[in-house]
Amino acid sequence: MPAQGHFSVSFERSGSAVSWRPESGTLLDLAEAEGIPIDSGCRAGQCGSCTISLVSGEIEYLGAIDQEPEGRCLACLAVPKSDLVINA
Ligand code: FES
Repeated sequence: MPAQGHFSVSFERSGSAVSWRPESGTLLDLAEAEGIPIDSGCRAGQCGSCTISLVSGEIEYLGAIDQEPEGRCLACLAVPKSDLVINA
């Protein structure tokens, strides 16, 4: 089940903090809406180009991913499960 609620997402490198809600979509969608650059490719959890470091907080995935990168996440499928700090 997709995440519920509102969480704060801090983008450490760009110094922005935004509020995430379910309609914000994935972390990649959220970053793009805020003009924060995150690489992307397949947008389907396969290529790994959207990998970002998770500084704190928990995420979940909206779909199946090939492999969960340790301490990092695939922004194209990840949504927050708590307030997050990410290195982007
Ligand atoms: S864009 Fe390919 S894994 Fe996220």
